[in-house]
Amino acid sequence: MSTASPRHFLELRDLSRDELDHLFARSQRIKARFKTYERYWPLQDRTLVMIFEKASTRTRLSFEAGMHQLGGAAIYLNTRDSQLGRGEPVEDAAQVISRMGDIVMIRTFEQAIIERFAKNSRVPVINGLTNEYHPCQILADIFTFIEHRGSIQGKTVAWIGDSNNVCNTWLQAAEVFDFKVHVSTPPGYEVEPERVGLIGLSGINHFAQFADPMDAARGADLVTTDVWTSMGFEAENEERKRDFADWQVDAEMMRIAAPDAVFMHCLPAHRGEEVAAEVIDGPQSVVWDEAENRLHTQKALMEFLLLGKIND
Ligand code: CP
Ligand code: NVA
Repeated sequence: MSTASPRHFLELRDLSRDELDHLFARSQRIKARFKTYERYWPLQDRTLVMIFEKASTRTRLSFEAGMHQLGGAAIYLNTRDSQLGRGEPVEDAAQVISRMGDIVMIRTFEQAIIERFAKNSRVPVINGLTNEYHPCQILADIFTFIEHRGSIQGKTVAWIGDSNNVCNTWLQAAEVFDFKVHVSTPPGYEVEPERVGLIGLSGINHFAQFADPMDAARGADLVTTDVWTSMGFEAENEERKRDFADWQVDAEMMRIAAPDAVFMHCLPAHRGEEVAAEVIDGPQSVVWDEAENRLHTQKALMEFLLLGKIND
């Protein structure tokens, strides 16, 4: 095992535009192999350790299945059954886990936790969702857009709903890939000015906020949303249901978007809340491809973080 400083994926911009483009090319290659059952085991004898402090279906499944398909093994730890839930310092856990595993994926609360872990890790650390960011999701989303519509550069993404971890990552991606994000949230849930600075948005070219969700959706190439209440904020659920009632992506909103607009949702979805059933189950929805692409893009990510740029 190398003791050189590892590369991490804690935020989307931890990889350069060139490296992210490489990941998309590799995702396509790895996906094609998967579809024809071609054995591809570049990570044979490598172990992924997955730490979950919040629930998951897609992230766990895609990382665990993905590592298995690349020839390696995956170990699942959660807060309840490990010493992490009994107050072992993150720094100590990182020291130990990164001496036994070759790569680590963490889903947790504050971004600061994953940063502390990474500082003390000998091996690459991947953000599997924090309160602030969800970079693996946006890898899959942009790859899905490219598959369906080609380059995302110069396009407009409408984000309708909560200015949460997924929204923050779309904003970061807009800067890296040069597209626009039009955000509409209820009053009081806007993207915080401080977050705009942290994300690294250089100016108004890539981001605009709209009071009316229809204005955000007008002419958009991609319309997307997420749950009104993210994990960790459950105490606000009833209040949020009232506050977000007018921020549902429905058929009328899709009609005002570009004629060939696609609809995305990171899932899990709540039909009748943030999205109408006729939209998520309708012809413009690409949500199942989007979910499947978590598998292919994360396999490309693990390959890159462990082996660097390879092209076979
Ligand atoms: N989209 C996503 O991260 O799904 P899970 O919460 O099921 O992992
Ligand atoms: N914003 C949601 C995403 C779930 C995949 C959450 O953090 O719960």
